[in-house]
Amino acid sequence: MHIKPIPLLIVIAVAGAIAYWALLRNTGTAPSAGTDGGPMVEITVPDLSLNARKGKQAFEANCIACHGANAAGRDGSGPPLVHKTYEPGHHGDAAFILAARRGVQSHHWRFGNMPPVENVSDEALVQIIAYVRELQRANGIN
Ligand code: HEC
Repeated sequence: MHIKPIPLLIVIAVAGAIAYWALLRNTGTAPSAGTDGGPMVEITVPDLSLNARKGKQAFEANCIACHGANAAGRDGSGPPLVHKTYEPGHHGDAAFILAARRGVQSHHWRFGNMPPVENVSDEALVQIIAYVRELQRANGIN
């Protein structure tokens, strides 16, 4: 098929404009679900208690893929748990157990649903909660 040069230029211009618009939309809309995989918040990591250190290991085995190192979120995958949204008064410890056991329907962010986490013991979850709470407290989230 012979493509006439002028319509082709229009197609390229329109495609470019759409791509540009999509890029603009992707930046600056917080909380956003970008794709660069980096942490979403800057946090201070405190000296952890023994229990929290165990929780860190369990977190790294079960949650880090989505919630990122030090629960600082992972752009494109999951939200930071060291975040005001997850302070104890808003998401108590039971919310963590439920999240792992039943998964979470997306409601605060735009990452999609959290699936249930397989093969994580109650003991490990309690340690993960201790870990996340210590991180939260060290960052002014009480
Ligand atoms: C496959 C990705 C993924 C994994 C693995 C994952 N999460 Fe999540 N989690 C999410 C997403 C996405 C949300 C946010 C849902 C929303 O939009 O509110 C979330 C939300 C949560 C919430 C908030 C629940 C609520 O009631 O709003 C808690 C707590 C949580 N996760 C804990 C954990 C813990 C603990 C682990 C590891 C045992 C874990 N998550 C593993 C993706 C994940």
